[in-house]
Amino acid sequence: MNYLHRIFIALAVCLAGFAANAQTSLKDAYKDAFKMGVAIGRMQISGRVPQATDLVLQHFNSISPENDMKPEVIHPNPDTWNFGPADDYCKFGRDHGLHVHAHTLVWHNQTPDFFWNHADGTTKSHDELVETMRNYIETVCKHFNGKVDSWDVLNEVIGEYGEYRDKGWIHAFGGDGELVARLAFQFAQQYCDPDIELYYNDFNAWRPAKVDGICKMVEMLRANGIRIDGIGIQGHWGLNYPKTEYIEQAIERYSALGLKVMITELDVDVLPVTKEAQVFGQSLSDPMYQLEEFMEFLNPYKDGLPDEVEDQHAQRYAELFQIFYKYRDKIDRVTLWGLQDGNSWKNGYPVARRTNYPLLFKRDYSPHKALDAVLRVPSEAQRVIPRLQ
Ligand code: GLA
Repeated sequence: MNYLHRIFIALAVCLAGFAANAQTSLKDAYKDAFKMGVAIGRMQISGRVPQATDLVLQHFNSISPENDMKPEVIHPNPDTWNFGPADDYCKFGRDHGLHVHAHTLVWHNQTPDFFWNHADGTTKSHDELVETMRNYIETVCKHFNGKVDSWDVLNEVIGEYGEYRDKGWIHAFGGDGELVARLAFQFAQQYCDPDIELYYNDFNAWRPAKVDGICKMVEMLRANGIRIDGIGIQGHWGLNYPKTEYIEQAIERYSALGLKVMITELDVDVLPVTKEAQVFGQSLSDPMYQLEEFMEFLNPYKDGLPDEVEDQHAQRYAELFQIFYKYRDKIDRVTLWGLQDGNSWKNGYPVARRTNYPLLFKRDYSPHKALDAVLRVPSEAQRVIPRLQ
């Protein structure tokens, strides 16, 4: 092969790469790797903002309901069942041939107090609690059988040191986390169609001690003959955390148990404090942090994201998708927690009224640099350099 011929081939490979990147969508770029998902709400489904609906359908083949399948929406008070918004969500998914994920049955947040307590404030008895959970899971699972493909059965019950968290259901059951996990998965297995996959989902599910706790819970469920199909690693991450090796180790450990691994709620926080670690609880919602001097520090990009941070954001997304792509035989789905920055919960939590930039699309629906960086990962990893002779 002569010199010119070699240059020609190298150029053709580069151009093919660029062309593919220019045209491709996330779901096409990752079609041989894993499903690409996004959390949506009524706005994207209603078609009120056509740009939003178009972007969802262009880039994603899986959806998660940001809020409409949580207990406070589905069963806001003892006499009301409200399936309308979730039915619209499922119909949107089915109409467009998307994987329809359901989220979430048993959780301590966004669950009305009557699940655990009587109207007079006294705690329900053990048997009343079991019956409340059984009835809720039976009603909800049966309603959505045939409409959804997977359920987050249990959300966020393991703490940072691998212990069960004494909140919500677990608190009501006197701290017995194993009981809550067993009941939740047992009832889900009993009332969901057998082809619906049943998952556990949690934040900081990369932290080694927390991974230990989650794996122990999985083994406990299996020792009791109860099915669990996968683990959702939430992915509320930041520019500077978690360390990539922790993510890799967690994927390997869940997968070694024969579980599917999902990255379920991905966003990348770029703001002070929360780009360093996930802050949970109410500490930073104290009104004191709304004072001018704090806000100047905590909310530095209210007029726009500086180029250098835009680059860091793209770099971080690329780094994360390089890991996901490397582990594509173990990862079943990667879901962004929202479509564009303006809708993200990260603008209001844990500090109120900030301007964050955690997603792949900006407030005007144009892409961040991160989109292109993410789109390039598979083609760059797989680019075949022709063998020169
Ligand atoms: C958790 C829940 C999600 C959502 C986020 C914040 O991660 O699993 O449903 O509420 O918190 O938006």
